[in-house]
Formats: sequence, C-alpha cells, structure tokens
Amino acid sequence: MDNFKTKQNIGGLSGEIIIPPDKSISHRAIIFGALTGGKVKIKNLSLGEDCLNTLKIFEKLGAKHKFTSKRDLILDSSNSFNAPKEALYCGNSGTTTRLLSGFFAGQNFDVELTGDESLSKRPMKRIIEPLSKMGAQIISNENKLPLKIKGSKLEGITYHSPIASAQVKSCLLLAGLNADNKTKIYEPSLSRNHSEIMLEYLGASITTGEDKNGYFVEIEKSNLTPKNLEVVGDISSAAFFMVAAAIIPNSSIIIKNVGINPTRTGIIDVFKQAKIDFELLNQKTICNELVADIKVNYTLNIEPFEIKGNLIPRLIDEIPILAVLASQAQGKSIIKDAKDLRNKESDRIKTVVEAFKALEIETQEFDDGFSITGKKEINTNVTLETHLDHRLAMSYYVLSLINKKEMTINGFNCINTSFPEFLDLMKKLN
Ligand code: S3P
Repeated sequence: MDNFKTKQNIGGLSGEIIIPPDKSISHRAIIFGALTGGKVKIKNLSLGEDCLNTLKIFEKLGAKHKFTSKRDLILDSSNSFNAPKEALYCGNSGTTTRLLSGFFAGQNFDVELTGDESLSKRPMKRIIEPLSKMGAQIISNENKLPLKIKGSKLEGITYHSPIASAQVKSCLLLAGLNADNKTKIYEPSLSRNHSEIMLEYLGASITTGEDKNGYFVEIEKSNLTPKNLEVVGDISSAAFFMVAAAIIPNSSIIIKNVGINPTRTGIIDVFKQAKIDFELLNQKTICNELVADIKVNYTLNIEPFEIKGNLIPRLIDEIPILAVLASQAQGKSIIKDAKDLRNKESDRIKTVVEAFKALEIETQEFDDGFSITGKKEINTNVTLETHLDHRLAMSYYVLSLINKKEMTINGFNCINTSFPEFLDLMKKLN
C-alpha cells in the first residue's frame, strides 16, 4: 500500500482515541534510561521506526531490553557499552543521529552513523561545529552522513546556538554529561525541553534559565539514577486528528493522554487564533510532563492565522498539518521565520507549497515560510509525493478527507517512521 489512493467518503469524525507515545520523549527515555547504567522500566514507548532505531543502536552497544507488553519494556544497561562491530543505522531519524552524536563523541570507542536517503541529505554542521569545539573528532561527508565519530575526551563550553533546536541542545547536553567542566547552551528562543525535564528527573546536575543572552541550560558531568519512566502521548501525532476534526463537518472527538508541555503547544495557540472550538480536559503530570485530553469540534468559521517568531519552535513539526488548517480558513494565513523547515525530513516549505499548488489552493512561497489563502473547496484529482516525509504523508491524508476527488499519495508507508497506528486510529473515529 505504498501508493495510497483515497477519496472523501466520511461524514464527521467522532469518538475517543488514546494518542500513541511521544516520539521525542521516547528517544530520550531510551537514551537517558540506557545512560543510568541500571535497569529502567519504560512505560508507553513509541513503536515508530525512528525510536526503534534508537533502541536497536543501544542493543548493538550491549544494552539489553525486554518488552513486557506491547509498549512497555525493561531496559538493562548494567554492563558497560561495547564498541559496535558495524556502522550504526539511524534510519530516517534526525533525533537519533544528532542526540547520539553528542553521546558518542565522549566515549572510549569509535562509531560510524548512517541513515536513509532523506536523513543523508540533512545538515549535521549544526552539531559537528559545537561538538568539535568541545574536543570531538568527527569526519563527515561535507557535513552530512555518514559520520565517523572517534571517541575523545571532551571539555565543556558555552555555546550560543544560532537556531532554536532541541536536537542541537540535547546533543550538547549529552556531550556535556560526559565532559570536564560545565557546558552551557544558549538558544534564541526556547525549543522543546524534554531533555532538561528528563535529565533533572533522573538526577543530573542541570540548571535552566533565561538571561540577557537568551534561554540557557547548563549541565555538568553527572551520574543518572535508574528510575522508571513513562512516556506521554504525542501532540505532534494528535495534531493530525485535531485538525481533521476541526475541518470535517459534524466532527467531535476526544484525544486522550496528549502531552501539553508548553514548549510543544504552539498548535494550541494557533487553534485559539483560528477560533477553533476545542477544550483541554483532565490535566495532570506524568514524569514531570504535563498531559491532558483534548476535545475538538468541527468549526465552521475558521479565522486565518499568523505563525512566526518564538511560536515556530513550539510547533515546528505541526506546520504541514497547520497548512491544511489554513486551507480551510477564511482568508490568508502566514507562516514565517521558519527557514529550518527546509532541513526537515523534506524541504517542507518547497514540498508543502508544491502540493498545495497541485491542489489548486492559493499559496505563495517565501524563503522562510509560505502563505495560504483558504476557504476554497478542494476538488482536484491529484497525485502527491511524500519524499519519505511522514508528516507530509499524514497531512495529505487529512487533505484527502476534504478533497471531493480521488487523491494518490506516493510513498505513504513512511508514516511508520513516527505513527504506525495512524490509519487504525482514523478508522476508529469514522
Ligand atoms: C526534535 C526536535 C525538532 C523536531 C524533531 C524532533 C527532538 O527538531 O523537528 O522532529 O526530539 O529533539 P529541531 O530541534 O532540529 O528543530
């Protein structure tokens, strides 16, 4: 079913779903869990290919794991890590590559990191440069994969990251965990802080704050304490259902157990701007991460919205599906200050604009974003390419639900990267 044909055939979406575990937090649970050097129970791990690639890498290093139920496992890293015998495959996952580079840079063995076609095009200079300042030895293919990392002794630095990137920040935190002296990372606006939250939870010596130079996090060499971890639901996965319910007439759904860490809830701010009919219910905290159930109802009059500045890192992965929301707004929505979208699993500015033009939706490309003029009925027979980008595939699927004509999505299987349960949950709401 890699070329997926779909045609609008549904009334409204209704019912309740439990959203699968957060991808970012799952990666961190495996990585930080394995760094405790003990046994850690991880509850509700993402079964997307990206996280399974992170898990397989730790298996190759000698950390053992055993699933006790579908998404719960025990990770045992009581033995010290071995040098891997072969190159370590990171698949489609930028998070695996960038976070683990920080960890490998300070080990006493060498590794080589490889990835799929999409990952092999993505820039790694953003981590190679600061890691090299810490003393790392990395050979790359012109700042792209494969990366050959020679384990070295690292020295803490103060680094002013030019971009708000949780992958860069977390990479340097992992390097800093193993470096002499303190490592301090500044970022221009606050990117997702799951690493900071989990490192603190596991007892690392870490502080966060804001001063005249921006947001910072500081870490020093510390041991992590083995503690059980639980992963909350993924707001980036929930986003597809949130938007689908908002734009498909007669919909009313509840999405349960969604992580609503404020560094991830840019979509909620956009829903407020767009005047979507939604509610947050049953808020609680799991492993220091905020969680809620989200109720979304169909909204007839959707206001156009503007996404820019500090909002960008808080919804960076939701931009393709928010573009779908924009297609149903009454006017022109604008997304800017988002140039890093060009470095995601695909160039998401180019690919989104191309797809929307093919669907005859009015759109304009900028260097750092795009505009979309909404409220046009979509009635176009079209084939769209996913370019191995899971979030495009799922956004196009949601578009297909409001397209009156048949749509083919080429390369649809890439949804397994983050969200293998996507179609089953869609069916559940039909
Ligand atoms: C992620 C951070 C984001 C995001 C990615 C996951 C993470 O990337 O796009 O899907 O888990 O740290 P950047 O930090 O590079 O923006």
